[in-house]
Amino acid sequence: MFDALTRQPDDPLLALIGLFRADERAGKVDLGVGVYRDETGATPIFRAVKEAERRLVETQPTKAYVGPEGDPVFLDRLWALTTGEAGKGRATAALQTPGGSGALRLAADLMARMGTKGIWLGLPSWPNHASIFKAAGLEVITYPFFDIPSQAVLFDRMMEALAGAAAGDAVLLHASCHNPTGANLSAEQWRAVSDLIAEKGLLPLVDIAYQGYGRGLDEDAAGLRTLLATVPEALVSVSCSKSFGLYRERTGAIYAACSNSETALSVRTNLAALARTSYSMPPDHGAAIVSTILGDPALTADWKAEIETMRLRITTIRERLAAGLSARWQVLTAIREQEGMFSLLPLEEADVLKLRAEHAIYMPTSGRINIAGLKTAEVDAVITKFLSL
Ligand SMILES: Cc1ncc(COP(=O)(O)O)c(C=O)c1O
Repeated sequence: MFDALTRQPDDPLLALIGLFRADERAGKVDLGVGVYRDETGATPIFRAVKEAERRLVETQPTKAYVGPEGDPVFLDRLWALTTGEAGKGRATAALQTPGGSGALRLAADLMARMGTKGIWLGLPSWPNHASIFKAAGLEVITYPFFDIPSQAVLFDRMMEALAGAAAGDAVLLHASCHNPTGANLSAEQWRAVSDLIAEKGLLPLVDIAYQGYGRGLDEDAAGLRTLLATVPEALVSVSCSKSFGLYRERTGAIYAACSNSETALSVRTNLAALARTSYSMPPDHGAAIVSTILGDPALTADWKAEIETMRLRITTIRERLAAGLSARWQVLTAIREQEGMFSLLPLEEADVLKLRAEHAIYMPTSGRINIAGLKTAEVDAVITKFLSL
């Protein structure tokens, strides 16, 4: 019976990890990986996370199920962190989920249940967006968001496309630190797209997965907060994988901002029912860590200080790369203004393969680089290798 299945292609990013590992050359550089790396090449556990874990080991009274909704205290604290004043007092339905991916899948399942037909997705995007939406049975409607050769956001094209959306269609927006381009909307553009979404009666689904890695914790959520203040209904998918370094703990949440508490209750019961028939109950450990940190002012301050150090490391490397690479590719001064871990370089596949074969610099053939994959000491050598292409 299993013969009915055809073999699926390997995930190209996972395959790249294997190739990098097998490379024995000294000084090899991994720009493909999708996690934060520090100056030593490690993906560290936040100090505040370690401390919260220690406290949990000592005080956690049980490992009984947390229930399909998860822990309401975690959900409230994370909502406050993400949405600030804009989220205060808003009627919301919230569920703790297995990572941001789990949140996106629940959002997609909810939309399918509501009868949402299409979801608008700007390209390029994180490849799993389209896969998750299609798996839930939604139609994915794409439009160009970013022009790789000029490194420009195609905002007019985006607005034109969304002007043609039908009332009730959904639209996926990256809150900040866009994956894979690092390109973001300005405050003015957020206001314009929020107005258009409200006017056309569209349902925004905002994916916030890198809060703190761009311009700062509040700054990275500013566009989302503008949107929330403008639209009657919205879905917000939060991933704690990067912001708290909890990748493998699968920590996240889905929120539906509703126009009244009656609707919020109905949405919550539907999200819970969808979770129940999928993974049933969310994992707890990561959410308990986040809740412990956000519930303790000293731990919160330490976590904020640490993520700020990480953010500054990324912005420093962005500046050095922009200065060096723009000697050959003028447009790459844009790397300085781009935010978060990723930028998408205007490279041909042959260039990417040449960098890999001749210089042991690894990145996917799309040309996406993880800025955090670079150590400061390596930047000049890497720039020289790029310029030799
Ligand atoms: C844009 C974006 N959204 C969501 C996610 C989901 O992250 P996770 O499921 O690991 O929390 C990622 C992970 O890479 C991402 O890049």
